[in-house]
Amino acid sequence: MLTVKKTNGTGKKPVKAPKISAAAALNAENPTSGVMPAQDLRVENNDHAPVVRRRDFIHIATISFAGVGAAAVAMPLVSQMSASADVLALASIEVDVAAIQPGQSIKTSWRKQPVFIRNLTAAEIEMANKVDVGSLRDPQTLAERTKPGKENWLITLGVCTHLGCVPLGAAAGEVKGEFGGYFCPCHGSHYDTAARIRKGPAPTNLVVPEFAFISDTVVKIG
Ligand code: FES
Repeated sequence: MLTVKKTNGTGKKPVKAPKISAAAALNAENPTSGVMPAQDLRVENNDHAPVVRRRDFIHIATISFAGVGAAAVAMPLVSQMSASADVLALASIEVDVAAIQPGQSIKTSWRKQPVFIRNLTAAEIEMANKVDVGSLRDPQTLAERTKPGKENWLITLGVCTHLGCVPLGAAAGEVKGEFGGYFCPCHGSHYDTAARIRKGPAPTNLVVPEFAFISDTVVKIG
């Protein structure tokens, strides 16, 4: 049993320390050599056996605790750093939309999320503009969701705002729902031709990401 003597001259009996061998304690103090410097050893009992002073034990325990704390803090920092690098690498994409005909859509991917790029027909634009915006769950006009002079280009995330399914309607032949836009079959959300929620549990419209046309046909998303 390792004991630790108080050295403040009070004359009280030694108190028992937590179970730790002197060798382990010394190794913690100097892990490379496994040997504590001679000046740190102190003979304190009648058997002349080396003991660890209370001050040494507290020092060792503090170093061990600090080491664990540093490891626990370092991991999230490393993980945040790698996430940032990853996100930065995918911060924006550029898409040439010249080949997408009116009535057609494509699916692409940005920041690991699906994105729908849709070239609305004149009829689909008219359908969107006919809606009483005040009656919508998430009131927005088509003009607010597109760029001036390019209202036919509807660009949204392909992520249902209910629980994150990918709605149907972007690929040829897929069901577009009751309002001609997109349909999420997971729980039955219907979006119109401006990708606004019109029916079902989704609380908001499909999200329009930050985007800009950098030429007549190339759009930069992000
Ligand atoms: S996830 Fe789309 S309706 Fe529930």
